Amino acid sequence: MEHSSRQELEVIHEIPLYRPFVEKWAQVESFQARPDDLLISTYPKSGTTWISEIVDMIYNNGDEEKCKRDAIFNRVPFMEMSCPGLLSGKGCAGDQTNARVPFHRMKTHLPVQLLPVSFWEQDCKMIYLARNAKDVAVSYYHFYQMAKMHPDPGTWDEFLGKFMAGKVAYGSWYDHVKGWWEKKKAYRILYMFYEDMKKDPKREIEKVLQFLGKDLKEEVVNKILHHTSFQEMKKNPTANYEMMPTWAMDHSVSPFMRKGMSGDWKNYFTVAQNEIFDAHYKEQMKGSTFKCQMEI
Ligand code: A3P
Repeated sequence: MEHSSRQELEVIHEIPLYRPFVEKWAQVESFQARPDDLLISTYPKSGTTWISEIVDMIYNNGDEEKCKRDAIFNRVPFMEMSCPGLLSGKGCAGDQTNARVPFHRMKTHLPVQLLPVSFWEQDCKMIYLARNAKDVAVSYYHFYQMAKMHPDPGTWDEFLGKFMAGKVAYGSWYDHVKGWWEKKKAYRILYMFYEDMKKDPKREIEKVLQFLGKDLKEEVVNKILHHTSFQEMKKNPTANYEMMPTWAMDHSVSPFMRKGMSGDWKNYFTVAQNEIFDAHYKEQMKGSTFKCQMEI
């Protein structure tokens, strides 16, 4: 990939995606998950890095020095990633070395229908984290600006239109959250919400512990809580994506750890945009029992 040049997205099985990922699609499809692999799944900008840091802290029994051994994108690699010149991508689908993902945990943003079948066949444990659509749209707009693998987002109004139409990387937010919501009925999926984590992070960390079958002392849980707070992660170079080359992510445009709050959409949506969005949302989510809070 040419450094710092933006590229249009390619469509694979009706989902817009980064061209380098699509070029290696056969490798993604045939990715071999193992039964003890943990998969973190999210629609982009839903708190992937936050839950990844929590999971890594849990596996390292709250030892923050161990968690600072490498950047979060290497500790919890991006399963479908393939991007020449960027990161080791060790064990990811695009990796040519046949290495296994270290530490048996990885993340994906794929919608259920695009997830390699081996994850279902192996009945892997999965954590799905959802965040309300309005905050995701705002966060994604800023991410498009700073992360140069995306096409130009255009104005906020233009970007919001694309988001609602599912014409952004990874497609429709609505289909994504609904797809995983349905899958949790039949598979080992812990379905979590960003807003719940904001409200009561300790309770949510305890849910993850239970799901992973881990029992940690309260003082360790408190350490995890502290280390994974927005303030701590924002200043931690192994968690805040500042270890990415600037040609790929330019934090001076917008920091990766931007605001970390719920309800920031109110600073961006006009009254008219909000009305149109709400009507469209209702239509898209009709018939689903999925519910999430737009603010806390
Ligand atoms: P904002 O852009 O709204 O600030 P992802 O990791 O899926 O790309 O999501 C990034 C979003 O999660 C960003 O949202 C980021 O600030 C937020 N985030 C990251 N770590 C967080 C934390 N510890 N607490 C709250 N929000 C966090």
